[in-house]
Amino acid sequence: MDEWKLRTPYFVIDEEQLAKDFTILTDSLQRSWENYRIGYSFKTNSLPWLVTFLKDKGALAEVVSDDEYALALWLGYTDREVIYNGPVKERESFCRCLLAGGMVNMDGQRELGWLEEVCRRHPKRVFPVGIRVNFDLEKLCPGETTMGEAGGRFGFGYENGVFAEVVERVRKIPNARIAGLHLHSSSKSRSVAIFEAIAGMACRLKREFGLHLSYVDLGGGYCGGLPGRPQYPDYFPAVAKILRREFSPEETMLVVEPGVSLLSKATTFVTSVVDVRDIGKERYLITDGSRFNIDPTMIKSGYLFHLELRKENGPQRRTMARQCVSGFSCMEVDRLFSYENGTELAEGDRIVYENVGGYTMSLNPLFIRYFPDVYIRRRGRLLKVRDRWTPEEYVQKGMRFGEERALWDADREEDQPE
Ligand SMILES: Cc1ncc(COP(=O)(O)O)c(C=O)c1O
Repeated sequence: MDEWKLRTPYFVIDEEQLAKDFTILTDSLQRSWENYRIGYSFKTNSLPWLVTFLKDKGALAEVVSDDEYALALWLGYTDREVIYNGPVKERESFCRCLLAGGMVNMDGQRELGWLEEVCRRHPKRVFPVGIRVNFDLEKLCPGETTMGEAGGRFGFGYENGVFAEVVERVRKIPNARIAGLHLHSSSKSRSVAIFEAIAGMACRLKREFGLHLSYVDLGGGYCGGLPGRPQYPDYFPAVAKILRREFSPEETMLVVEPGVSLLSKATTFVTSVVDVRDIGKERYLITDGSRFNIDPTMIKSGYLFHLELRKENGPQRRTMARQCVSGFSCMEVDRLFSYENGTELAEGDRIVYENVGGYTMSLNPLFIRYFPDVYIRRRGRLLKVRDRWTPEEYVQKGMRFGEERALWDADREEDQPE
């Protein structure tokens, strides 16, 4: 296949690289703590091909909303293959997961009420549940956490005694059992020290509350694919060393919920220069990709990329001091980077962004352009696994003007006095 003939922009997932990274993950878990499960973080990228590829390799679905839960079921996961996390669970799916034997990590007071209700309704069954802990990780790893001293908002606070109250409340339910702790914490550093601190906290809570845990869930937040940064084989031996102070693989399963670390190395985003313009002193390259495609939350300070130069644009190119690479949208902030002291680019040249698998394909706004094509690369060939969205996908069940009239009439009929 001549990739120059493909219409840009598009994402490519390299299947072999993805499989390789998954194997590095499983090998290092197997060596460090043979009793483990991987829950793939749906929110990171819930592209159906990707999710089912990981399912095929044995990953569970880590979901944080009713919609993600429904997607997991739609894609063939059973309830028992779901890890249900996050603060916006819904009552019905919470109960469903609990009753079916999925892994539920409670993250809010209303879920305690739902647990009590399920237990009351099914007095002959015992319901294992997990509790999401919020603890002061910043104190243990100064400067490394995402929220710093302000702290995060997920889970039940350890330091202020709320976690202890929750433990007490669950213990009062005769047929509920605290089976797991969920300790995901976001960090800027994604360092090994962060995960050592998380493991240390699990040990501390076990001791302090006399817990008998079937699982410890470390959550996600690992580094992946970046040279000079920690890799999976750096994290798990360090974590296991600490966990062994209080736990054993025979009794307690280690759960991990990787997202971005699994996808980074395997994923690229291919864009083309569509226009070159000089305004004032600036050279602007307008491209058909956007910051919204690869950095929708606008937090990245730089991008990894390589160029693919169109040979029709000539072999000899001059070097330019500065070219401003910008996106297709009409927003001025949609500038990706300043390309300095590089080849002068022209229409049709390609800029290929690397490490763009996480928080991209499914976190694109539908702004000006819809979702782009997604391909996988298998043995050197590209296969399209998602077609770019067209107005058909965008409109969905949306009505055109006038079609709402039937609703209006029905509504008015209902309001008529009998
Ligand atoms: C509970 C939970 N698990 C897993 C993840 C995945 O994290 P990452 O993509 O950084 O590995 C997140 C991300 O915020 C999360 O909140």
